[in-house]
Amino acid sequence: MIIETEEDLLKLQRIGRICANVLRDMRAAARPGVTTGELDELGARLLKAYGANSGPMAEGFPAYTCISVNEEIAHGIPGSRILQSGDLVNIDVSAELDGYYGDTGASFLLGKGDKMAQRLLKASKEALANAITAAVAGRPINHIGRAVENTARRHGLRIIKNLCGHGVGHTLHDEPETIDNNYEPQNRQRLEKGMVIAIEPFISEAEMVVIQSKRDGWTLYTPHRTRAAQFEHTLVVTDKRPLILTTPGPDI
Ligand code: CO
Ligand code: CO
Repeated sequence: MIIETEEDLLKLQRIGRICANVLRDMRAAARPGVTTGELDELGARLLKAYGANSGPMAEGFPAYTCISVNEEIAHGIPGSRILQSGDLVNIDVSAELDGYYGDTGASFLLGKGDKMAQRLLKASKEALANAITAAVAGRPINHIGRAVENTARRHGLRIIKNLCGHGVGHTLHDEPETIDNNYEPQNRQRLEKGMVIAIEPFISEAEMVVIQSKRDGWTLYTPHRTRAAQFEHTLVVTDKRPLILTTPGPDI
């Protein structure tokens, strides 16, 4: 969506802050021995306390948040899986309040983890930062994917091609439909002032596509179960640096 009123901005800031705070608190509670289901229960309680509704649940997902561990790349279903030291964990929180959506995600390690996991985290964090720098009104949308792809390449890593960012706003997946994580020269669309988008690079250690689990119909894996890491922010495009909506802090 494109922001048109002060109210649009305030409400997007509010739900963005809520998503960020829920992610922060779930992440703080993640430790070896805790199940992903317990983390999701915490997320559910926090969302309820804010009066917000889970984004994925509204789309039929069987939990409040997505928690993906190691070989799970995205849309992991929280449940009885017990977190262990060295796990590469991704939590993705999207939610709605008052007709406005926010969407944020982060990968992190429990304990030190292995070298490749550390590299995935460093590269994906950097890819999001570089993508945010490229998100300026008037510039082609594909500059975002170019920044992500270049960052991955510099680290000797790849991107997941069939996972991408998206517009956010009155719906979780709003206009523009896709913010690619790779350079798509044929995409002629430009970023506009007030455009609300979620940027979410997935940086991969080897494979470039994910496939959906036949067992649960949700979890996304790479065919050979190699890993990836993701960071995601919802932001508003401006003439200068974008306004990031999904930063944690006091209630708005
Ligand atoms: Co998300
Ligand atoms: Co998203």
